[in-house]
Amino acid sequence: MSGEGKVVCVTGASGYIASWIVKFLLQRGYTVRATVRDPSDPKKVDHLIKLDGAKERLQLFKADLLEQGSFDSIVEGCDGVFHTASPVRFVIDDPQAELIDPAVKGTLNVLKSCAKSPSVKRVVLTSSTSAVAFNTRPKNPGVIVDETWFSDPDFCRESQVSIVFPIQNESLKLVKLGYAILMWFT
Ligand SMILES: NC(=O)c1ccc[n+]([C@@H]2O[C@H](COP(=O)([O-])OP(=O)(O)OC[C@H]3O[C@@H](n4cnc5c(N)ncnc54)[C@H](OP(=O)(O)O)[C@@H]3O)[C@@H](O)[C@H]2O)c1
Repeated sequence: MSGEGKVVCVTGASGYIASWIVKFLLQRGYTVRATVRDPSDPKKVDHLIKLDGAKERLQLFKADLLEQGSFDSIVEGCDGVFHTASPVRFVIDDPQAELIDPAVKGTLNVLKSCAKSPSVKRVVLTSSTSAVAFNTRPKNPGVIVDETWFSDPDFCRESQVSIVFPIQNESLKLVKLGYAILMWFT
């Protein structure tokens, strides 16, 4: 599929998954608006700048998940948005502040920006097996874990493997897990 003439935003572009998304989008001819927290940090952006097509079609923007409206102008005019930015850490002192707030508030922040931009036709969020891994149901051989297996918030809190809580409003349900985020529209 050719992305020629199309503009796509990738959040957290310096990250592992996002960097691959940026590479594939550039290969397919898309113009990519890549968000990073510090575009002046070579460790974060050098590998992106060196990608084929980057010189012509990669644009770097500074954005932070916890800054309200940070993504508004970046997303405006985009055809699609890949939202991958999220803290990914396995050793953490304060899960609420270091993990959950940036992930949940950040995702809502990005989605609000998308909702404001009529050009955005599709939003892709990265989830994780963590979204369905932590509950009391037995995972015997042959069991298929799918979207009916959402992790159980109480189990996660008690076992401290992950933290889960639901946010709901009229248009969306969001389940945040300690190490992942899963979202689906109703
Ligand atoms: N890698 C996997 O195998 C895997 C598996 C399942 C799910 N996932 C999910 O996929 C997503 C990306 O994972 P990844 O492995 O690519 O992670 P990663 O390499 O750590 O990338 C995460 C990106 O999020 C950005 N970020 C963190 N906090 C931010 C903030 N406050 N504001 C703006 N950006 C922020 C980081 O930007 P900076 O560079 O500026 O810090 C980083 O570039 C995560 O949601 C993760 O849970 C990944």
